[in-house]
Amino acid sequence: MPESASVRSMPAPPTLISEDEIRARVASLAAEIDAAYAGKDQLVLIGVLKGSFIFLADLARRLTIPHRVEFIAVSSYGDRESEHADSVRLLMDVRHAIDSEHVLLVEDIVDTGHTLAYLKRLLGARSPASLRTCTLLHKPDRTEQVVDLDFLGFTIPDVWVVGYGLDYAERYRTLPYIGELPPEMR
Ligand code: IMP
Ligand code: MG
Repeated sequence: MPESASVRSMPAPPTLISEDEIRARVASLAAEIDAAYAGKDQLVLIGVLKGSFIFLADLARRLTIPHRVEFIAVSSYGDRESEHADSVRLLMDVRHAIDSEHVLLVEDIVDTGHTLAYLKRLLGARSPASLRTCTLLHKPDRTEQVVDLDFLGFTIPDVWVVGYGLDYAERYRTLPYIGELPPEMR
C-alpha cells in the first residue's frame, strides 16, 4: 500500500489547539451563528475548499437553524506566492444563485486576508441579503488586507498550522487536532 497519503506514517506535529478545544469552540461558534440568524428563512454556508471541509462539516452539524451547504474553490497559497501576492483565482464557483440569500462564508484560516477579501467582493456583487464570514483561525500578524471577521474561532501567532482540514503540500489535512509545523518538518 502506498504510504504517502497516510498521516500515521508521518511524525506528528506538536499540538497548538487540541481536539477538545476545537470541539468546544465549534459548538460555541454554532450557538453564536444560530442566535445571529434566528428567524431567518435559510442560511447558505459557503465553504472555501479545500481547507474548510472538516470545519464546515462539524460546524454545519452543530447548527439548529435551517441551512444549506455550498462550496467554492480558489487558487492555492503556493500558486499565489509565485505570482502576485494579492492575486486570487477562482477555481470552482458555487452551484446556485445567492441573490436575496443570507450567506456565511466559512474559511479555515485568514492569513494575509486576500482570499477572504476577494471572495467578499465576488459574492457581495451578487446581491445577497447579507454576507458574513466565519473563520476558524486568524493570524493577525500577517494581515495585508483587513476583512471583517464576523465569527472567529481562534487567533494564532504567525506559525504554519496543519490538521483539521489544513495542509502543508496536501499533507496532514486529516490530523484530528491543529498542529504547529516546525520548519524542519516542512
Ligand atoms: P490569505 O489569502 O493569505 O488570507 O490566505 C488564506 C489561505 O492560505 C487559507 O485559506 C489557507 O488555504 C492558506 N494558509 C494560510 N496560512 C496557512 C497555514 O498556516 N496552514 C495552512 N494553510 C494556510
Ligand atoms: Mg482556505
